[in-house]
Amino acid sequence: MINERALDALREKVSESEGKKRFSHTLGVERAARALGALLLPEKICELAAAALLHDITKEFSFEKQLKSCEEFGIILGRYDHMSPSVLHAMTGEGYIKKHFPEFADEEVLSAVRKHTTGDENMSVFDKIIFIADYIEDGRTYPECINVREMLLTGLENETAEARLSRLDAAVIAALDNTVRELLEKGKIISEKTFMARNSIIASKNRS
Ligand SMILES: [Fe+2]
Repeated sequence: MINERALDALREKVSESEGKKRFSHTLGVERAARALGALLLPEKICELAAAALLHDITKEFSFEKQLKSCEEFGIILGRYDHMSPSVLHAMTGEGYIKKHFPEFADEEVLSAVRKHTTGDENMSVFDKIIFIADYIEDGRTYPECINVREMLLTGLENETAEARLSRLDAAVIAALDNTVRELLEKGKIISEKTFMARNSIIASKNRS
């Protein structure tokens, strides 16, 4: 069972395996995930904290180690995945959690870790919280991140449950848009999952 005691032990372990800067980002994501969880998914705070603590657990692996881990965990890479090394850690993270942190390998935790970098089609509220917590945590100082943070958090507690969810969607779309713009500017590969994530949120709004 994922409880605060288990999370304290997990935080300790993660602090030993991540560099100082990465770990401080991880703690920022945990804080943001808890704050958002309190307003959007209060029954899942511990699971959200676990996903936040583990989301970048393989991020510091070298490219070679990422590829080796993909092989080890039986991950079938998309045609262009090896050309955008930073997307690999989300996939290897899932396999690594299953192997090394089975007590936290809850389906929702795994799904959120898998989707936290590119997004994906039909993201759950849980997935969206981790995705956006990664984008808006306190340590992010890019103006784009600060804008999305303010847009999402300002007065969120005064909103109805429905309005909170639609602001979460708007923030995820804004983050995806910024990511697409940045990748376009840098001439980098854009994962099709990023478009699927965006399209599926927009489609779900049009349905309702
Ligand atoms: Fe992260």
